[in-house]
Amino acid sequence: MADTKISDSVIYIGANDHDIDLFESQYVVPNGVSYNSYVIIDEKIAVMDTADPRVTDIWFDNLEKALDGRTPDYLVVQHMEPDHAGNIKKLAEKYPEMKIVGNAKTFPMMKQFFTIDGLDERSVVVKEGDTLSLGSHTLQFVMAPMVHWPEVMVTYEQSEKLLFSA
Ligand SMILES: [Fe+2]
Repeated sequence: MADTKISDSVIYIGANDHDIDLFESQYVVPNGVSYNSYVIIDEKIAVMDTADPRVTDIWFDNLEKALDGRTPDYLVVQHMEPDHAGNIKKLAEKYPEMKIVGNAKTFPMMKQFFTIDGLDERSVVVKEGDTLSLGSHTLQFVMAPMVHWPEVMVTYEQSEKLLFSA
């Protein structure tokens, strides 16, 4: 994995999957797919989505390198399909203090995929336009229902003008 720094504060921790033959068991992907995931390092640390269970080990490796011994404060869940969300439970168990950020449609769906201890107490439910300060970075959430599934949202980081597009 090369060039993982998007900016001084934003690190790419995703993984490429060159072995997959069909995306969604349906579409031919001769070049494979990328599972995109990022960490934002600030006073508070946010992880933007996880990755498919096919790349769990490399994703956790990338995450730990990016964290460099620190602990994430938030996981932002922009989409619940397993290629984006397959490691939510593992991450939540590894970092029990970490809050999980989603919208009203995210969490009922999450409960269909995973049983996560204390999820309700750890949930931060956001709606259209809400913001979350990490320190010098501010995340703003924009709902994008049915871009794929009804819970999809994207996240705009105001200080660097970055869109995390799910
Ligand atoms: Fe999807």
